[in-house]
Amino acid sequence: MILVTGAAGKTGLAVLAALKARGAKTRAVVRNDNQILPARQAGATEVVVGNLLDADVWRLAATAVSHIYHIGPNLHPNEVRIGQLMVAAARAIGNCRVVYHSVIHPQIREMPHHWRKLKMEKILFDSGLSFTVLQPTAYMQNLLTYLPTIQKDGILPVPYPAATSLSLVDLYDVAAVAAKVLTEHGQHRYATYELVGTEPLSQTAVADTFSQILHRPIEVRPVSPEAWQAQALARGMGKQTAATAVAMFAYYAASGMAGNPQVLRFLLGREPTSLADFITRTVS
Ligand SMILES: NC(=O)c1ccc[n+]([C@@H]2O[C@H](COP(=O)([O-])OP(=O)(O)OC[C@H]3O[C@@H](n4cnc5c(N)ncnc54)[C@H](OP(=O)(O)O)[C@@H]3O)[C@@H](O)[C@H]2O)c1
Repeated sequence: MILVTGAAGKTGLAVLAALKARGAKTRAVVRNDNQILPARQAGATEVVVGNLLDADVWRLAATAVSHIYHIGPNLHPNEVRIGQLMVAAARAIGNCRVVYHSVIHPQIREMPHHWRKLKMEKILFDSGLSFTVLQPTAYMQNLLTYLPTIQKDGILPVPYPAATSLSLVDLYDVAAVAAKVLTEHGQHRYATYELVGTEPLSQTAVADTFSQILHRPIEVRPVSPEAWQAQALARGMGKQTAATAVAMFAYYAASGMAGNPQVLRFLLGREPTSLADFITRTVS
């Protein structure tokens, strides 16, 4: 039985589906009752509802599991506390393997959610548990937020300059690797894998790829981080979460996010999904 946390989120649903495709049994932890059905539809065998900040929820969720796939809630200020509870639950079981869903370049202090994942990795190394760390770069699926504007107005409205270069990865490739390391017993113990699908791509290159596939001009239209933050707060995003996202945009604008696809190519045994293939699959 594999425990998957953050299971009703973007990453969790993809990982549940990839594990189902491998015939694995999964127990999903979701935050509320509305998330039970999506988790089940994605392939969860069992579902536990609860707050990951509650040690009792961990005790219940981790009963008799062999593996934990830990996905910390996105941009969450208490990600380290949640991770400490996860490690305590894993140690209490004994013989439990942990696969931690980290992030590319967790060393970057300017991005608090990366820095928190570096602390989490250290907690895992110190724990004596059998672990594997996956470090994905930004998902191609993040672009889906902009799809309505791209299709309706021909505009890619990103909160950083058009020249900002980011390596991207298809979340389905990440989920395929997650399922692989969880089900190939022992082979990936103590490994840390950067999961990168593309060379760094400027936002102009991203817009050009949409252009080629949609057969119409698509133009990058940078949105100021202040305007992005105001919209996010109006949509109900918490202040701290929005501030963390803005810190990420500032880092991206200053330095980009560059990674190398070789490790993912090796793990998949094929070429990682290209941006063009991702867009074609998504819009068709
Ligand atoms: N997006 C990327 O490009 C990317 C790239 C690399 C790594 N990552 C990392 O991947 C992780 C997951 O990202 P994601 O985009 O899949 O996030 P997501 O879609 O926001 O999913 C997170 C899930 O966790 C749940 N959650 C939040 N707080 C909780 C709590 N206290 N107790 C129980 N559940 C809680 C959320 O429920 P609600 O919906 O109710 O809040 C949601 O279902 C993050 O740590 C992120 O940093 C993301």
